Amino acid sequence: MTTWTVGVRAQQDDYEQALRLLSEAAVRKHFEPYVDIVWDSPDLAVTEGDPRWILSESTDPLGRHPWYLALPEDKKIAIGMWRQANVAKVGLQFEELLIAGVMNHLQTLPNGSPEFRFLTHEALEECNHTLMFQEMVNRIGMDVPGGSRWFTAAVPFLAVAGRFLPAIFFTGILAGEEPIDHLQKGILRSGQQVHPIMEGVMRIHVAEEARHISFAHKFLAHRVPRMSRPARFVLSLAFPVTMRVLCDVIVIPPKQFWETFDIPADVKRDLFWRKPESRRMLRGYFGDVRMLAEQIGLMNPAARLVWRLCGIDGEPSRYRSEPDRRPEPAAA
Ligand SMILES: [Fe+2]
Ligand SMILES: [Fe+2]
Repeated sequence: MTTWTVGVRAQQDDYEQALRLLSEAAVRKHFEPYVDIVWDSPDLAVTEGDPRWILSESTDPLGRHPWYLALPEDKKIAIGMWRQANVAKVGLQFEELLIAGVMNHLQTLPNGSPEFRFLTHEALEECNHTLMFQEMVNRIGMDVPGGSRWFTAAVPFLAVAGRFLPAIFFTGILAGEEPIDHLQKGILRSGQQVHPIMEGVMRIHVAEEARHISFAHKFLAHRVPRMSRPARFVLSLAFPVTMRVLCDVIVIPPKQFWETFDIPADVKRDLFWRKPESRRMLRGYFGDVRMLAEQIGLMNPAARLVWRLCGIDGEPSRYRSEPDRRPEPAAA
């Protein structure tokens, strides 16, 4: 056996061992949405005029926009309920896409594959997340659509990538998981008061999502260096584009939102992404992903340019889940 094959074998062993540990963690600690959340508890009741639905100034850009701040309280509450229900709805649509694509990927795996076991645990957890997000939407009582029309129409086709283009598929999954996780961790860390339904759902989600994000990072770190040079180059360019397009699907509310509440087009432009602070927030979502791209050889001069054109360039995180607290570099 050559030194090279010994090295490759050792990397394969490390990868398989990491997946085994993730699978064991999924067995030891997981949640059941209809056991761990007491939906009918009076504390979780959704009542009229509850100010805890008002969007936060610190974590939601709309929450600190002067237009929103000037609204009467009942309108602020209605917008807050709609927005939070819609984020849950689009989140569950992403999870449905993940489950569908993962099933396509699983059918290609050989017997004994540790990816099979971990990804099946992950799909089970995602099914539970869709249950809890949908329950939350139903209880809030706003008939929200989730993602924009093009996205919901494209879901069945995007899921095919799980089978034929797994590296790009898991890039897309990360593009959905990272902004939601970043947003939810920001809310939980800020200590702001949110409705207990939101808090319960977010705590479960953040806990389980850590494993999913960890898997997606490990999967890409394992697979990308084994791709051919041209394929890796194409992925390096597609990577930031996928991140940006899918991030917009998650964080920009669909057309119905702006129409229902008669929100001026100018407010939408400020938030997505005209104001410097909103652009900073957008870049902040992707610190961990930039770190990953650096580590697995997906940063090259052309890719850096695409990251910049997509508005998601910047410093990579120094470690996973590093809070986005570093000051902005001074303008040149
Ligand atoms: Fe999830
Ligand atoms: Fe997930």
